[in-house]
Amino acid sequence: RRPTRVQHLQQMKATGERWAMLTAYDYSTARLFEEAGIPVLLIGDSAANVVYGYDTTVPVTTDELIPLVRGVVRGAPHALVVADLPFGSYESSPEQALATATRFMKEGGAHAVKLEGGERVADQIALLTAAGIPVMAHIGFTPQSVNTLGGFRVQGRGAGAEGLLTDAIAVQAAGAFSVVMEMVPAEVAGQVTRKLTIPTIGIGAGADCDAQVLVWQDMAGYTSGKTAKFVKRFAAVGDELRTAAAAYADEVRSGTFPGPEHSF
Ligand code: KIV
Ligand code: NA
Repeated sequence: RRPTRVQHLQQMKATGERWAMLTAYDYSTARLFEEAGIPVLLIGDSAANVVYGYDTTVPVTTDELIPLVRGVVRGAPHALVVADLPFGSYESSPEQALATATRFMKEGGAHAVKLEGGERVADQIALLTAAGIPVMAHIGFTPQSVNTLGGFRVQGRGAGAEGLLTDAIAVQAAGAFSVVMEMVPAEVAGQVTRKLTIPTIGIGAGADCDAQVLVWQDMAGYTSGKTAKFVKRFAAVGDELRTAAAAYADEVRSGTFPGPEHSF
């Protein structure tokens, strides 16, 4: 099996082969996703929510994310590992973006980075690409801008479709190797996908994108509470784990565990 690189994703766009991306935040889950053959793993700034317990992705820092990248890289030697640039680490200038992305590559071992925004971050994408850093863009609903977007809302509806296409073309022209589209009408996402030569990766963007991404805890049923409409739970890992923890504690209390077979 060959390690996935950006050129392979480009080839799959050309041949119409769809692929799946998942988030990962540690060595153990990255190993499982490697075994499952997931070609692209993202250390999302969604770590803010699922690893650190913040309400939004706004507070998470580069220092909090880099150690997670290291674990994923070690666990998934065949995956293309992409790291999210967190809020506040790339917006002020292309140079700031380059400094942050360089840390993710050198200290974390990431193969590529992702940042949020379309036209407004085109200069950042161009400088990173010129410096040899593959960039995945992220347009549509961009969670780091939740405060200006007025909550978790579908983007690119009606007249907004034109702005979405403008952003998609801008990130492609700047050199992005792929683009995530989040919470965009399926029809609009399909139009963008057909217009672009780089792969589109949908989350809440319908079936016509070249690829799909989900936060793994959503995909596996490991998150508690209500999930977004675009999530499908492929397992109930949270229920399994809770049941296992309770059974373990029961056996410790009753003296059933450890048994003679677990003792020296
Ligand atoms: O942070 C994240 O997990 C993401 C994906 C859901 C695209 O940006
Ligand atoms: Na993200």
